[in-house]
Amino acid sequence: MVRVCVVGSLNMDLVVKAPRLPRVGETVSGGTFATFPGGKGANQAVAAARLGARVAMVGRVGGDPFGRELVDSLKRDGIDVAHVRVDPGAATGVAQIGVDGEGRNMIMVASGANMRVAPAAVDEARNVITGARVLLLQLEIPIEAVVHAATVARAAGAVVCLDPAPAAPLPEALYACVDVISPNEVEAGILTGVEIHSIADAERAAAALRERGPRVAVVKMGARGASFLSPDEGGHVPAIAVKAVDTTAAGDAFAAALGVALGEGSRVAAAVTFATHAAGIKVTRMGAQAGMPARAEVEEAMRR
Ligand code: RIB
Repeated sequence: MVRVCVVGSLNMDLVVKAPRLPRVGETVSGGTFATFPGGKGANQAVAAARLGARVAMVGRVGGDPFGRELVDSLKRDGIDVAHVRVDPGAATGVAQIGVDGEGRNMIMVASGANMRVAPAAVDEARNVITGARVLLLQLEIPIEAVVHAATVARAAGAVVCLDPAPAAPLPEALYACVDVISPNEVEAGILTGVEIHSIADAERAAAALRERGPRVAVVKMGARGASFLSPDEGGHVPAIAVKAVDTTAAGDAFAAALGVALGEGSRVAAAVTFATHAAGIKVTRMGAQAGMPARAEVEEAMRR
């Protein structure tokens, strides 16, 4: 069982599914409402656990009912939450999400306690970070904590995976410690300046990302699949054909599956194929963590 550590965010997702998303200043009626455990970090933790990894989560929630619900939800997936601290002085992170009839989303986040994850929290969790084969990182906590976690894990010989979402310019010190980077098209465009319209553009962006340090670069292209580049492999894997219900956290399913497969020793092309199937199943279901597939489902989809 591969050991995975996630240092990242936990949010409660407040989701309205409506026929279409509103324009600025517009009200759209006719939706349905539900809350789902979310947050890019916690989503990746749940995805990795359901894919068979032994997972520890490092993060912060507020001292409110949402925080308790998020921690309990991680526990139900068997995740070690000893380093998810409760911060009584902060509100739990919340994401307001609109999902349209085609499963596309718009997300606004109030980060709350997530922004209180300091480098000291990484030091407190050093045992679970250095004990992991794979570290999964995103950008919903302060960048200083992300850089510190990457540095500690890299020194311990872990595979450091960064899903650079939401996109932000990255310090060189972070690129230097990251083994695997997996932006979506928009994020890859922001990081590299390459506007991505085609697979060739994605391949150019992947090459530009590798030049900065990561050994493996994967550009996620949603329904168009993913392009990847490593020292000895490169190519494009198409997405599986599905009817999208909710694309929220598809990128998290992908990032976690990629990390788990690489941590287990898969070659990059095989890991990207595994990740593409995990993300493809996720989009057929409502909810971020609620929609994450089990390993058997991903393997079954790959056989088909
Ligand atoms: O990646 C999807 C996630 O982004 C949601 O679960 C939401 O909480 C935001 O963090």
